Amino acid sequence: MEDRGWAVKEINRLKKEKNAVILAHNYQIGEVQDIADFTADSLALSQAAAKTEADMIVFCGVHFMAETASIISPDKKVLIPDLKAGCSLADTINAEELREWKKEHPNAVVVSYVNTTAEVKAESDYCCTSSNAVKVVSSIPEDREILFLPDMFLGAYAAKVTGRKLHIWAGECHVHAGIRPEDINKMREANPEADMLIHPECGCTTSLINYVGNGSIKSEDTYFLSTGGMINHPRHSNAKEFLVATETGILHRMRKENPDKTFCPVKEDAVCKYMKMITLDKVLTSLQEEIYEVKIPKEVALRAKKAIDRMLEISN
Ligand code: 13P
Ligand code: SF4
Repeated sequence: MEDRGWAVKEINRLKKEKNAVILAHNYQIGEVQDIADFTADSLALSQAAAKTEADMIVFCGVHFMAETASIISPDKKVLIPDLKAGCSLADTINAEELREWKKEHPNAVVVSYVNTTAEVKAESDYCCTSSNAVKVVSSIPEDREILFLPDMFLGAYAAKVTGRKLHIWAGECHVHAGIRPEDINKMREANPEADMLIHPECGCTTSLINYVGNGSIKSEDTYFLSTGGMINHPRHSNAKEFLVATETGILHRMRKENPDKTFCPVKEDAVCKYMKMITLDKVLTSLQEEIYEVKIPKEVALRAKKAIDRMLEISN
């Protein structure tokens, strides 16, 4: 696109004309975050989709997020600017595999991370995101068996914090699984004064919780946070430097909102190629042509909505 100024104007004009709202995830490229009405983590985006009075939602994120918005607001037109924006973590389990797992544990409660397809959510009792997984697990009576899916690092984190024994699906996100304890240790040594912010999907999470537990890592300046929690943290911290262990798209807003502080990715190449598929010109085309609409079959959507609503009730 030659003239970005024109594109931004046109996107804003179309938004007004069509009563559309643009929701963007914290990992989107900078210029997409900048054009969005609301940029946030998965939980806050679901809450925004539930509340908006717009007729159309252009969802700048990955497919399962747009599906969630469509399930929550079935009477709105939900668009995703690129249908190929998937998620390697959501791909680690399908509805058939979950049904088989449930057969092995017929009395278990199923908690699915929001990074799952609508069909998987429809087979689940609860959804959760990285910001409320602990709360959701804690809300389930202690005598109930729990199947947690699909992220093994978030599952291990929730099990550790709640002290619950969970059956955990062995799924992982290729971006976060690649952030290892060695990466954290190296950055820590070089920046001893910095606050360390870690997304619980990271491959380093489980061993780091153990290090924090046995005192090898100072617990005061290590924080396990959702992407939304990471955005909020620097506003209230006295630290000047922050080491960020998650997808690097989050640095755009952190730097923009805190120009006097320094933010360093723990791993420069922690980049989600799916999140980066959404570009300004695709957002414009999406609004112009009203593509690509994300619609879930009614029966699947109704069942999936129950699991999402339970999560939203616990989180509100
Ligand atoms: P958040 O819910 O923390 O935004 O994370 C979503 C995600 O896809 C992490 O990879
Ligand atoms: Fe999925 Fe990982 Fe990308 Fe998040 S970062 S959307 S979990 S592939």
